[in-house]
Amino acid sequence: MRITGAVLEEIGRPRPYAQSQPIAVQEVELDPPGPGEILVRIEAAGICHSDLSVVDGNRVRPVPMLLGHESAGIVEQLGEGVDDVAVGDRVAMCFLPRCEQCPNCRQDGRLPCTPGSAANNAGVLMGDRILLHRDGPDGPEQVKHHLGVSGFATRVVVNRASAVPVGNDVPPDIAAVLGCAVLTGGGAVLNAADPQPGDSVMIVGLGGVGMAALLTALSLDIGEVIAVDALESKLDLARQWGADAAYTPQQVAEQGVKATHVVECAGHPRAFETAFKATGVGGRTVTIGLPAPTALSEISPLTVTAEARTIIGSYLGSAVPARDIPRYADLWREGKLPVERLISSRIRLDQINEAMDQLADGLAIRQVIMFDEEEA
Ligand SMILES: NC(=O)c1ccc[n+]([C@@H]2O[C@H](COP(=O)([O-])OP(=O)(O)OC[C@H]3O[C@@H](n4cnc5c(N)ncnc54)[C@H](O)[C@@H]3O)[C@@H](O)[C@H]2O)c1
Ligand SMILES: [Zn+2]
Ligand SMILES: [Zn+2]
Repeated sequence: MRITGAVLEEIGRPRPYAQSQPIAVQEVELDPPGPGEILVRIEAAGICHSDLSVVDGNRVRPVPMLLGHESAGIVEQLGEGVDDVAVGDRVAMCFLPRCEQCPNCRQDGRLPCTPGSAANNAGVLMGDRILLHRDGPDGPEQVKHHLGVSGFATRVVVNRASAVPVGNDVPPDIAAVLGCAVLTGGGAVLNAADPQPGDSVMIVGLGGVGMAALLTALSLDIGEVIAVDALESKLDLARQWGADAAYTPQQVAEQGVKATHVVECAGHPRAFETAFKATGVGGRTVTIGLPAPTALSEISPLTVTAEARTIIGSYLGSAVPARDIPRYADLWREGKLPVERLISSRIRLDQINEAMDQLADGLAIRQVIMFDEEEA
């Protein structure tokens, strides 16, 4: 079938993207779902820094690639053997499918699935499947899948393991954001940092993921919650939302601000250094950022030993998405997790290049692309 999607043509085009147009919104051919796959009509898709990192070359992926992973929509067709989700169900996409068979999948979400990660790196769906095609300059060509989803599109076919039913009462834009920002930021706090009553939590980097981590920390019965970002506008928002204190990285360093549990959500090696230095004795530094593979941080190993500290890397919120996304949906229903605050604007698919500029400038939390049912 023909779909409309946002295809990254070339990595590393210069800013502003509004002018260089690295992403083209175009018609692409999508194959029907095979065994274990489902067809989903996309209703909403959030723009995450991990999409931008493909555009700017921080994370090199094969192109042309149809971007997007933080998407949600309605199941339209089931591939052979899929019987645990129904046509008409609203699902949130998650950006790493679990095979449920590899040794890592037996680790309760702490480790990324091995075949799932390999498929994501190759730009294919699990099982080496490429379902996107277009007419290129030299004839028909494949379009790669982004993180098993390619959700900046009117429709997707994904492995069943990439979709989590959220309940049709959850609005599509909320459902989309649950799949990446909330799963990652929430899980970094709940699964990886795991603060107890009396502990303090600091979040370094207040984009979509960091703000989701902040909202999650604020929902807990713990001690001080501290927000850190280089941008004053982000700090103002964090204070409004209930953070006990908010600082720039410079202020953290100058004033020696510390917390027992510090979560780095910026994706920059300097932010990791800030997070590491701000972690107290016996504390935990959790890092979720995905800087360029060549980026290096400087830390003092002695402090890790002498202060009995822990550094934890957290991918996908150290989560089992099928278990955790419904929990976040419940917290949202109960009014404990105001996920709607993460949506800083709602845009159209053809505004994608401008939206990448906004994100690169730190001006957005989550910009969510809304898809019209008539257009689909
Ligand atoms: N681990 C995972 O599973 C996972 C999932 C999603 C996203 N990510 C990664 O998490 C990171 C954050 O994603 P996002 O979409 O929230 O990004 P974003 O661009 O929306 O937010 C990043 C924030 O960090 C701030 N920042 C930048 N440098 C800083 C510094 N030195 N000190 C303090 N703050 C700083 C920026 O001002 C911005 O507010 C990215 O690297 C992204 O690729 C990881
Ligand atoms: Zn993401
Ligand atoms: Zn696995």
